[in-house]
Amino acid sequence: MRHLIDILDLSTQEIQELVDLGGRIMEHPERYAHKCDGKILATLFFEPSTRTRLSFESAMLSLGGKVLGFSEAASSSAAKGESVADTVRTVSCYSDIIAMRHPKEGAPVVAARHSEVPVINAGDGGHNHPTQTLTDLLTIHREKGRFTDLTVGFCGDLKFGRTVHSLISALSRYEGLRVALISPEELKLPSYVKSEMLKKKGIEYIQTTDLESVMPQLDILYMTRVQRERFFNEEDYLRLKDSYILTPEKLRTAREDLRILHPLPRVNEIAVAVDQDPRACYFKQVRCGRYIRMALIMKLLGIPEEE
Ligand code: CP
Repeated sequence: MRHLIDILDLSTQEIQELVDLGGRIMEHPERYAHKCDGKILATLFFEPSTRTRLSFESAMLSLGGKVLGFSEAASSSAAKGESVADTVRTVSCYSDIIAMRHPKEGAPVVAARHSEVPVINAGDGGHNHPTQTLTDLLTIHREKGRFTDLTVGFCGDLKFGRTVHSLISALSRYEGLRVALISPEELKLPSYVKSEMLKKKGIEYIQTTDLESVMPQLDILYMTRVQRERFFNEEDYLRLKDSYILTPEKLRTAREDLRILHPLPRVNEIAVAVDQDPRACYFKQVRCGRYIRMALIMKLLGIPEEE
């Protein structure tokens, strides 16, 4: 039985196979409409979500399966003090696969230890978000046709932004990666991610507070929201929340083939006027989320593409 807790649980070849399968599903979703007939996905969301939960549900329904679950801890027996271990042990009696989001880093590892069915980490605290990374990779592949030889700027909350940690981890496996880490001092990439994923692998990177200074070099600009829910202090959040606001003016020096990604939700960090720019890919990215999750569900349930 396979779980997906960290993007590194998948080999480079498996990531490529998932991206390729996600792309084929996207072209011909009708061919996959009965792949999960009779299967049940449980979505256990202890934290708010729009895209991840609904794209998982849409993915399973599109494969012919069914879904059950909860969208907040308050409507589950977690509110009565039930542990993650007991919750998952219970839900794995009712379902064939579980997608779980939890505010505590490491909660999906505990879940996987106690589950009788595959567990997918749908985001754990400020740690990891591997299925967003698969979504990002499918988007990058469709837009750029490659994962090698890319200059990627990560901008915003690099400290708490779990999607950033997972994507750096995934991209660090490919040749020719160059990284620009653009954040306020207080929201710099955690040193464990920097040392494990960048320094140890000899990846070229710079850290800066100035987005415009690196803009002309970027192939991909990955914008992120300042993660209000991870701050201990509202004053700090208010001081930092508008550190970066991407506007059409700031894109004047960007390349024509730049692609702008954002895992969403967006708050203020990309002006709505940027949505009209052909380089803006964040809603295409949302669309990719459904198809890559269809591919992932099939893989973890061991369902072959061809009968
Ligand atoms: N990208 C993402 O995780 O969005 P949600 O929080 O809406 O699921």
